[in-house]
Amino acid sequence: SITVDPTAQGAKIDDTMYGVFFEDINRAADGGLYAELVQNRSFEYSTADNGSYTPLTAWTVGGTAEVVNDSGRLNERNRNYLSLGAGSSVTNTGYNTGVRVEQGKRYDFSVWARAESGSTLSVGLKDAAGALATARQVAVKGGWAKYTATFTATRTSNRGRLAVGASDAAALDMVSLFPRDTYKGQPNGLRKDLAEKIAALRPGFVRFPGGCLVNTGSMEDYSEASGWQRKRSYQWKDTVGPVEERATNANFWGYNQSYGIGYYEYFRFSEDIGAMPLPVVPALVTGCGQNKAVDDEALLKRHIQDTLDLIEFANGPATSKWGKVRAQMGHPRPFHLTHLEVGNEENLPDEFFARFQRFRTAIEAKYPDIAVISNSGPDDSGTTFDTAWKLNREAKVDMVDEHYYNNPNWFLQNNDRYDSYDRNGPKVFLGEYASQGNAWKNGLAEAAFMTGLERNADVVKLASYAPLLANEDYVQWRPDLVWFNNRASWNSTNYEVQKLFMNNVGDRVVPSNGTTTPNVSGPITGAVGLSTWATSAAYDDVKVTAADGSTLLSDDFSGDASKWKHTGAGSWSVQDGQYVQTDAAAENTMVSAGDPSWHDYDLHVKATKKSGK
Ligand code: AHR
Repeated sequence: SITVDPTAQGAKIDDTMYGVFFEDINRAADGGLYAELVQNRSFEYSTADNGSYTPLTAWTVGGTAEVVNDSGRLNERNRNYLSLGAGSSVTNTGYNTGVRVEQGKRYDFSVWARAESGSTLSVGLKDAAGALATARQVAVKGGWAKYTATFTATRTSNRGRLAVGASDAAALDMVSLFPRDTYKGQPNGLRKDLAEKIAALRPGFVRFPGGCLVNTGSMEDYSEASGWQRKRSYQWKDTVGPVEERATNANFWGYNQSYGIGYYEYFRFSEDIGAMPLPVVPALVTGCGQNKAVDDEALLKRHIQDTLDLIEFANGPATSKWGKVRAQMGHPRPFHLTHLEVGNEENLPDEFFARFQRFRTAIEAKYPDIAVISNSGPDDSGTTFDTAWKLNREAKVDMVDEHYYNNPNWFLQNNDRYDSYDRNGPKVFLGEYASQGNAWKNGLAEAAFMTGLERNADVVKLASYAPLLANEDYVQWRPDLVWFNNRASWNSTNYEVQKLFMNNVGDRVVPSNGTTTPNVSGPITGAVGLSTWATSAAYDDVKVTAADGSTLLSDDFSGDASKWKHTGAGSWSVQDGQYVQTDAAAENTMVSAGDPSWHDYDLHVKATKKSGK
């Protein structure tokens, strides 16, 4: 039974309470939300991005073609180009099964080309069954210039290929094919079905661009002085201006990122869907297993200045230095940035906080209206978390970002997490959470948990599920909210939960009380799983008890570990009464022998974990 007092006044709920977190993980950007159909369009793929890459990944060559890195390049930041021999051709395979085209729809081809003595490019769209559109001839003459052509698809295909042939020798770069039909018809735009799915959530904010994408890698710029660093943290200035001048980068998740979607596109998308933009900048401390504080005063100052410049890019008048860049890209009006996060989730709270304070002081001095968001590290509990919260609380930080990925039972059991948070301390931004599954029970557990967020809307100001998108053929992390391939996209149950909450944000909580009699009976069968995500982990005692306190399973690892098996990579063994992960696998779930599925009983897992996440 539920008791409601309609006269009681609970917490006020902000319209921005529920949002989305977009990170380029699982090919969420290139091969995903970014509508570009050509993969590796600028021949910049490198073994530094992924050991299997070459500059010709996703291309096949007919005749002679070679990727060149010399002074004849298109521009300094776009290092490679393709030198195509007379009578030769290259063909691009796109993403997943190929280039997807739909009958009757238009596709815009463009290429930067150079052919001092002249060359005619034959551009065609085809699949194994033949042409998908009438081929185009593009006459090229002289130095680097951009050439365009338009196709109308005569058939629908998921296995298309874009082929470019040259009558005489020519240099090519930025070979691109875009559907005309992007989200809201924006140039350099977004894939419509995916953008529409995000828009249908009606998110209050968009947190971008990461995640581990932001607080990992080198903090250097892309320049000769820094040795053209490929594994750079996500730095916004790399991602604005003409696309052919955006230096591609190794993506933390093991592929290449073109930055075709960059800061301008993120701001524009946020505006297009009526959401508050919420960017995250690196704080010169790396996390996500890298865990290093960068000690370089000049570099720190440069990043702080970059962050001030970012605010000017978003909000400054079109006459200001960075406001002008925004205006030249097509948006003279400001983007109305109000919140900005410094750092993602760092394991070194003291080192992070010292740097965070430098950013915060500089931002608040110049832009006192901007809320500067901090974080509490990678875990939702433990020493790092406690230290980070203590520092944030003492310094009266506006808002602290928390992240956690736990099993569905955890979410059910922690509905009251924020009931006891200090009402006078920093507000909470729950920037990343998920209940480790896309099944119905996961959605249900998240929905239950979200009622606890909402009840505490005076403390929890923003919340976003993570990650948002996953291309089914390039998965680094699961679960995810929306799944897709080159031809279709589909929502998870978790998505429907997010949509339900985001589309029905109330004004104020009406306090209520509920009572119930649980009805659980029958034998307990099935399995219990423990998840680790770390370079190492060790368990020295695992005990599973039912809600009535009876022991269902226990293991102190004094014998062998035959009760357990593993999903995912990683090796484990019993050592000195502990169950120890003996290699550096990324993610590993250990499951008690039996049916490895969750079931409907109320299990309380008590494990002592020595290290790991
Ligand atoms: O959402 C996936 C990853 O989880 C994010 O990149 C990181 O912030 C967290 O560890």
